[in-house]
Amino acid sequence: MINPKLIDLPKILDKRGNLSFFEYPNQLPFEIERTYWIYDVPGGEVRGSHAFKEQQEFIVALSGSFDVVIHDGKEEKRFSLNRSYHGLHIPKMFWRKLENFSTNSLALIVSDKTYDETDYIRDFEEFKRLADEK
Ligand code: TYD
Repeated sequence: MINPKLIDLPKILDKRGNLSFFEYPNQLPFEIERTYWIYDVPGGEVRGSHAFKEQQEFIVALSGSFDVVIHDGKEEKRFSLNRSYHGLHIPKMFWRKLENFSTNSLALIVSDKTYDETDYIRDFEEFKRLADEK
Protein backbone atom coordinates (compact mmCIF):
# COMPACT_ATOMS: atom_id res chain seq x y z
CA MET A 1 0.00 0.00 0.00
CA ILE A 2 1.30 3.48 -0.83
CA ASN A 3 1.14 5.74 2.21
CA PRO A 4 0.38 9.47 2.38
CA LYS A 5 3.63 11.35 1.98
CA LEU A 6 4.95 14.89 2.19
CA ILE A 7 6.73 15.89 -1.00
CA ASP A 8 9.26 18.75 -1.08
CA LEU A 9 8.62 21.07 -3.97
CA PRO A 10 11.25 23.12 -5.80
CA LYS A 11 11.79 26.57 -4.35
CA ILE A 12 13.35 29.15 -6.62
CA LEU A 13 14.64 31.84 -4.28
CA ASP A 14 14.67 35.30 -5.75
CA LYS A 15 14.87 38.72 -4.13
CA ARG A 16 11.86 39.63 -6.29
CA GLY A 17 9.90 36.91 -4.49
CA ASN A 18 10.05 33.11 -4.38
CA LEU A 19 8.52 30.63 -6.81
CA SER A 20 7.52 27.01 -6.37
CA PHE A 21 5.83 24.52 -8.69
CA PHE A 22 4.90 20.90 -9.21
CA GLU A 23 4.56 18.93 -12.38
CA TYR A 24 3.91 15.39 -13.42
CA PRO A 25 5.87 13.14 -13.21
CA ASN A 26 8.74 14.92 -11.43
CA GLN A 27 7.01 15.95 -8.20
CA LEU A 28 3.45 14.76 -8.69
CA PRO A 29 2.81 11.01 -8.94
CA PHE A 30 -0.33 11.42 -11.09
CA GLU A 31 -1.70 13.50 -13.95
CA ILE A 32 -4.11 16.26 -12.92
CA GLU A 33 -7.77 16.03 -13.95
CA ARG A 34 -9.15 18.57 -11.50
CA THR A 35 -8.04 21.49 -9.32
CA TYR A 36 -10.02 23.08 -6.50
CA TRP A 37 -9.27 25.23 -3.51
CA ILE A 38 -10.71 25.82 -0.05
CA TYR A 39 -10.65 29.32 1.40
CA ASP A 40 -12.51 31.67 3.78
CA VAL A 41 -12.84 28.84 6.29
CA PRO A 42 -14.37 30.17 9.53
CA GLY A 43 -12.36 29.47 12.70
CA GLY A 44 -12.93 25.99 14.11
CA GLU A 45 -14.51 24.53 10.95
CA VAL A 46 -13.53 21.11 9.59
CA ARG A 47 -13.52 20.21 5.88
CA GLY A 48 -13.34 16.82 4.27
CA SER A 49 -14.15 13.94 6.63
CA HIS A 50 -14.42 11.39 3.87
CA ALA A 51 -12.36 8.97 1.80
CA PHE A 52 -12.19 8.25 -1.91
CA LYS A 53 -12.48 4.79 -3.42
CA GLU A 54 -10.35 5.61 -6.43
CA GLN A 55 -9.13 9.18 -6.59
CA GLN A 56 -5.85 10.42 -5.20
CA GLU A 57 -5.05 13.97 -4.21
CA PHE A 58 -2.18 16.34 -3.62
CA ILE A 59 -2.69 19.18 -1.13
CA VAL A 60 -0.62 22.36 -0.74
CA ALA A 61 -1.09 25.12 1.85
CA LEU A 62 -0.58 28.00 -0.58
CA SER A 63 -1.18 30.46 2.24
CA GLY A 64 -1.53 30.16 6.01
CA SER A 65 -1.69 26.77 7.70
CA PHE A 66 -4.00 23.85 8.44
CA ASP A 67 -3.75 20.21 9.51
CA VAL A 68 -4.61 17.22 7.37
CA VAL A 69 -5.62 14.29 9.57
CA ILE A 70 -5.33 10.96 7.81
CA HIS A 71 -6.81 7.65 8.94
CA ASP A 72 -6.00 4.31 7.30
CA GLY A 73 -8.77 2.44 9.13
CA LYS A 74 -6.50 1.57 12.04
CA GLU A 75 -4.30 4.55 12.84
CA GLU A 76 -4.50 8.30 12.59
CA LYS A 77 -1.67 10.55 11.46
CA ARG A 78 -1.61 14.34 11.44
CA PHE A 79 0.27 16.42 8.86
CA SER A 80 0.60 20.14 9.60
CA LEU A 81 0.87 22.04 6.34
CA ASN A 82 2.27 25.55 6.66
CA ARG A 83 4.73 25.94 3.78
CA SER A 84 3.82 26.62 0.16
CA TYR A 85 6.76 24.43 -0.97
CA HIS A 86 5.47 21.23 0.67
CA GLY A 87 2.70 19.09 -0.78
CA LEU A 88 0.90 16.13 0.78
CA HIS A 89 0.13 13.21 -1.51
CA ILE A 90 -2.89 11.19 -0.36
CA PRO A 91 -3.42 7.92 -2.28
CA LYS A 92 -6.90 6.45 -2.64
CA MET A 93 -8.66 4.83 0.33
CA PHE A 94 -7.51 7.07 3.18
CA TRP A 95 -10.00 8.87 5.39
CA ARG A 96 -9.00 12.52 5.57
CA LYS A 97 -10.15 15.71 7.20
CA LEU A 98 -8.75 19.24 7.13
CA GLU A 99 -8.87 21.29 10.32
CA ASN A 100 -7.16 24.05 12.36
CA PHE A 101 -7.31 26.49 9.47
CA SER A 102 -5.48 29.73 10.21
CA THR A 103 -6.99 33.06 9.19
CA ASN A 104 -6.66 33.61 5.42
CA SER A 105 -5.44 30.08 4.76
CA LEU A 106 -5.73 28.74 1.24
CA ALA A 107 -5.71 25.00 0.50
CA LEU A 108 -4.94 24.02 -3.08
CA ILE A 109 -5.99 20.49 -4.00
CA VAL A 110 -5.32 18.66 -7.26
CA SER A 111 -6.83 15.30 -8.09
CA ASP A 112 -6.39 12.63 -10.75
CA LYS A 113 -10.17 12.39 -11.28
CA THR A 114 -12.99 14.72 -12.17
CA TYR A 115 -15.64 15.27 -9.48
CA ASP A 116 -17.70 12.14 -8.88
CA GLU A 117 -19.92 11.86 -5.80
CA THR A 118 -20.05 8.06 -6.19
CA ASP A 119 -16.29 7.91 -5.46
CA TYR A 120 -16.85 9.35 -1.95
CA ILE A 121 -17.08 7.26 1.20
CA ARG A 122 -18.76 9.59 3.70
CA ASP A 123 -19.46 7.10 6.47
CA PHE A 124 -16.45 6.31 8.68
CA GLU A 125 -17.74 2.87 9.73
CA GLU A 126 -18.23 1.92 6.07
CA PHE A 127 -14.72 3.19 5.33
CA LYS A 128 -13.23 1.04 8.11
CA ARG A 129 -15.08 -2.01 6.78
CA LEU A 130 -13.86 -1.42 3.22
CA ALA A 131 -10.29 -0.65 4.36
CA ASP A 132 -10.29 -3.87 6.37
CA GLU A 133 -11.24 -5.91 3.29
CA LYS A 134 -8.19 -4.64 1.39
P1 TYD B 1 -16.87 18.19 -0.47
O1 TYD B 1 -15.91 17.38 -1.28
O2 TYD B 1 -17.82 17.45 0.41
O3 TYD B 1 -16.06 19.26 0.40
P2 TYD B 1 -14.98 19.04 1.55
O4 TYD B 1 -14.32 17.74 1.29
O5 TYD B 1 -14.03 20.16 1.41
O6 TYD B 1 -15.66 19.15 2.86
O7 TYD B 1 -17.66 19.13 -1.47
C1 TYD B 1 -18.55 20.14 -1.03
C2 TYD B 1 -19.53 20.41 -2.14
O8 TYD B 1 -18.87 20.92 -3.30
C3 TYD B 1 -20.30 19.18 -2.58
O9 TYD B 1 -21.66 19.56 -2.75
C4 TYD B 1 -19.74 18.82 -3.93
C5 TYD B 1 -19.17 20.12 -4.45
N1 TYD B 1 -17.92 19.90 -5.23
C6 TYD B 1 -17.94 19.99 -6.61
O10 TYD B 1 -18.99 20.23 -7.23
N2 TYD B 1 -16.78 19.81 -7.29
C7 TYD B 1 -15.60 19.53 -6.68
O11 TYD B 1 -14.56 19.39 -7.34
C8 TYD B 1 -15.61 19.42 -5.24
C9 TYD B 1 -14.35 19.09 -4.48
C10 TYD B 1 -16.78 19.60 -4.56
